[in-house]
Amino acid sequence: MRVLTYSDYDEMSAAAARMIASRIAQLPEPVLGLATGSTPIGMYSELARIHDEEGLDFSRTTTFNLDEYWGLAPDDPRSYKWFMKGHLFSRVNLDPARTHVPRGVDVDPDAECQRYERLIEESGGIDLQVLGIGMNGHIGFNEPGADPNSRTRLVRLAQQTVDVNRAKGGLDSLPGYALSMGIGTIMEAKEILLLANGEGKAEIIRRALRGPVTRDVPASLLQTHPNVVCMLDKPAAKLLDLP
Ligand code: F6R
Repeated sequence: MRVLTYSDYDEMSAAAARMIASRIAQLPEPVLGLATGSTPIGMYSELARIHDEEGLDFSRTTTFNLDEYWGLAPDDPRSYKWFMKGHLFSRVNLDPARTHVPRGVDVDPDAECQRYERLIEESGGIDLQVLGIGMNGHIGFNEPGADPNSRTRLVRLAQQTVDVNRAKGGLDSLPGYALSMGIGTIMEAKEILLLANGEGKAEIIRRALRGPVTRDVPASLLQTHPNVVCMLDKPAAKLLDLP
C-alpha cells in the first residue's frame, strides 16, 4: 500500500481529484467506485472545478456508489443518491444512465443487490474505487466482523455508525440498515484510493494500515490488495511513524 500524506484536507482532496482525473483521461471507458460521507466532499468539489476550468470530460465514465440507506427514496435529502447529485452528478457531464447507486426503496433487496453486482460485472469491473473509513474501520457499510468474501447485500449498521452519521448530518433519524457493496466486491476493484482526514481518524488508520489483517477492522483487509493508495492529511497520519 502506498501511503501519501498532505499538509491539510484541501491538499489531500486536490491530490485525490487529480488521481481520478488522470484515470478518466487515460481510460477509454473509466469505471469509478464512489463513496459518500464528509471525507470526499472536497475531492468532488475539486473534480467539478477541473471539469469547469480544464474541461475534464466525464461523458464516457460509469460510476457505482458503495452504498445506500435501506428505506430512503432517492429524493430524500438524507439519501446517498441525493448526496451524489448535489456534490458531483449535477456538477459535471456524467451521463445519468451511467451513474449507479443501489436503490433503497421499492425493490426486493436481494434482487437489487444481485442486479447491482451484475451491472458492475457487465461494465467490466471497477477501475478505481474510492473509499472513506468509518471510526470502527468499516469500508462501505461493511461493519466489523463482515465476511471478507461478502458481495453487495442488505446490512445492519453498527449503532456507532448510525450515531456518528446522524450527528454529522444534524439529523433526527437515519435507517439502521443499508445496501452495501461487499468486501469481496470492493477487493475486486483494480485500484483502490483510501482517504482519511482529521485527528479523529488517526487511531483507526493506524490499526487499518499497521495492525493485523482482521475482519474486526474491515479496512485492514486492504493490506492484502495489490494496488491501494492511501491519501491522508497530517492529523490522520499522525500515529503512523512516517519519516
Ligand atoms: C460512504 C461509506 C462509508 C464512509 C465512512 C466514512 O459511502 O461507505 O464507509 O466512507 O463512514 O465517513 P466520513 O467520510 O463521513 O467520515
